Amino acid sequence: MNLAELSALHDESLAAVRAAADTAALEQVRIRYLGRNGLIPATMKQLKEVAPAERPEFGRRANAWRQAFGQELTVRTEALAAPAASGGGTFDCTLPGRWPRAGAQHPLSRVIDEVTRIFGRLGFTVADGPDIETRFNNFTALNTATHHPSMDAADTFWFDDDRLLRTQTSPVQIRAMLAQPPPVRIITPGRCYRRDTTDATHSANFHQIEGLYVDTRPVSLADLKATLATFAREMMGPGVGVRFRPHFFPFTEPSVEVDFTCHLCRGQGCRVCKQSGWIEIAGAGMVDPRVYRHVGYDPEGVYGFAFGMGIERIAMIRYGIADIRHLYENDLRFLAQFA
Ligand code: PHE
Repeated sequence: MNLAELSALHDESLAAVRAAADTAALEQVRIRYLGRNGLIPATMKQLKEVAPAERPEFGRRANAWRQAFGQELTVRTEALAAPAASGGGTFDCTLPGRWPRAGAQHPLSRVIDEVTRIFGRLGFTVADGPDIETRFNNFTALNTATHHPSMDAADTFWFDDDRLLRTQTSPVQIRAMLAQPPPVRIITPGRCYRRDTTDATHSANFHQIEGLYVDTRPVSLADLKATLATFAREMMGPGVGVRFRPHFFPFTEPSVEVDFTCHLCRGQGCRVCKQSGWIEIAGAGMVDPRVYRHVGYDPEGVYGFAFGMGIERIAMIRYGIADIRHLYENDLRFLAQFA
């Protein structure tokens, strides 16, 4: 064999690899050239019969051939294994592309962000506390009577060491006041836990946003009402009405429940507001002097209010969500509405 014949075999072998239509055909080509009796080993064996002057060049080219053939074989093997990915043969560039589905912010995160933004403009900063709380922060310092039913193991998830999963975001009030002197103006979104049986409006795991404003200058119930009325307008639109109803919370005195006019019927009465025209949004009140004593504040020299609201409730009203469980199931058919 001479150099010209070698170069012809080289070209022909690569063309054969490229022409192999499937893996079986490719295997035949491999055997023909690289098999035990294949053309490449046979060529190597012929080296000693080549004229001495041509031998070094012949050896170089034979090695180059073996290498080139091996590479071509690898390329073709991959192409046959994954035709579309490699762009080989069957790629149809006229097919429409596959678009990745756009993600969306979860409705609970949306409400938290929006409430936080509104109170941020009123000077409230975000404070944080742990989900696992002490009896003192969650109950005692909040002036909850020792035998209050909410402390019962039937309502609260207790740990063996007298700690618990917080039943409300109110313990963050205590943490904030223990950590700094007045003025305090915080908003605290977070997760809460109660032993509720899950149904369309209850979940053992839910979210609240707490607000606390304490100052050494007089703060009154009128300030609380103005703050929540401003929040209501920002959140629900300028036409919304706000009313306070007397209520009881251990850590505020006086205490109120806060209603907004129903956003659906604008106060006319409908199914959502059970014909009343109002929807309960928050609990609130003036901080009880006993709470100030628990955190080492002088009850004679500080004034303040607190409020707390359920985030799920606001999200359900806002987005017309009928069942609270939709908020936790991560069903894309539900979440896609918020994209
Ligand atoms: N923590 C109360 C609850 O979970 C709500 C509340 C917060 C009431 C702050 C008054 C002041 O029901």
